[in-house]
Amino acid sequence: MKRLLVTGGAGFIGSEFVRQGVRKGYGIILADSLTYAGDLLRIKEFEKEISFHKISVTDRDAVEKLFIAEKPDAVVHWAAESHVDRSIMDAGPFIDSNVKGTSIMLDAARRHGVECFVNVSTDEVYGDLDESGSFFETTPLNPSSPYSVSKASADMLGRAFHRTYGLPVITVRPSNNYGQWQYPEKLIPVVVVKALRNESVPVYAQGLNVREWLCVSDCADAVFRILEKGKAGDVYNIGSGEERKNIEVVKEILKILGKPEDLIKFTKDRPGHDFRYSLNSGKLRKELSWSPSTDFGSGLNNTVEWFLSNINWVNAKIAALQEYWSKAYS
Ligand SMILES: NC(=O)c1ccc[n+]([C@@H]2O[C@H](COP(=O)([O-])OP(=O)(O)OC[C@H]3O[C@@H](n4cnc5c(N)ncnc54)[C@H](O)[C@@H]3O)[C@@H](O)[C@H]2O)c1
Repeated sequence: MKRLLVTGGAGFIGSEFVRQGVRKGYGIILADSLTYAGDLLRIKEFEKEISFHKISVTDRDAVEKLFIAEKPDAVVHWAAESHVDRSIMDAGPFIDSNVKGTSIMLDAARRHGVECFVNVSTDEVYGDLDESGSFFETTPLNPSSPYSVSKASADMLGRAFHRTYGLPVITVRPSNNYGQWQYPEKLIPVVVVKALRNESVPVYAQGLNVREWLCVSDCADAVFRILEKGKAGDVYNIGSGEERKNIEVVKEILKILGKPEDLIKFTKDRPGHDFRYSLNSGKLRKELSWSPSTDFGSGLNNTVEWFLSNINWVNAKIAALQEYWSKAYS
């Protein structure tokens, strides 16, 4: 399994997966349409090693030509519209890229035959929890937002292709990722950027919602373990066990930056906001002997450090984000 077709590899997590893949000696074929969230700068250091195709996974003909030209051994499908808030503003692109795009990728993989198709889902497909309990791989899906519904559809399509056609699909459901190169529309980079500019830091409601924070390098590492050792047809949760309330994360970042907590501005809650996610990742840890190597404290410190050292990249994104920020945090 040497030639990996990676979709969405110019995005936040996909690019970490590509960087690790090149270092591991895989031949990386990258398919990405470069939406606002995609950026080849993330993988610039490896541009000579990667075969890049600027295509949308929703373009059936382009995907077909790609499989014919590159003959991948396996597919790791990260490409998606990924931001819940944008899906609340307009579900259309999410249905297109996440549902239709996944079905086109699965169809092509089936026609051409691959050894493995890793279908990247999310913990959000399970819906939310109150203060207690965790999601197991067997927990019924109960997604809440247009984003998580589109991901649940893609997740189920992948499993249907395994059951119906025997395509060797493995489904992975990671928890909330954080780390270097994250687009500054997600919580952690938004807080860093706003605080650095001494602007108010928006926090939904009272910031009591809980997420399980997984370092992006651990997420990519887990997906390699699953690709190499996982069982076709199976589902694997990928979590860190590091649950934090949003307000705790925000205060920790302000502390690292030496900024006052009175920058925090509580805003109207996100409609349908899931309260808490928590994954039981016992299957991945026990069956595939995987565990995360980054604790949240040091991971967050390194992430803030990375944003400080790469502030030019962030600043280049901010102009395009002003309109979105004003709609999202009104
Ligand atoms: N970020 C998280 O915390 C998280 C958690 C669990 C699962 N996931 C899943 O992991 C995957 C990657 O998430 P991310 O945060 O890196 O997303 P991202 O938004 O940073 O990157 C998505 C990438 O996909 C590309 N893309 C979007 N639509 C495309 C299309 N139609 N054709 C080809 N390329 C397209 C974009 O250009 C971008 O490079 C997604 O499937 C997401 O649902 C993310």
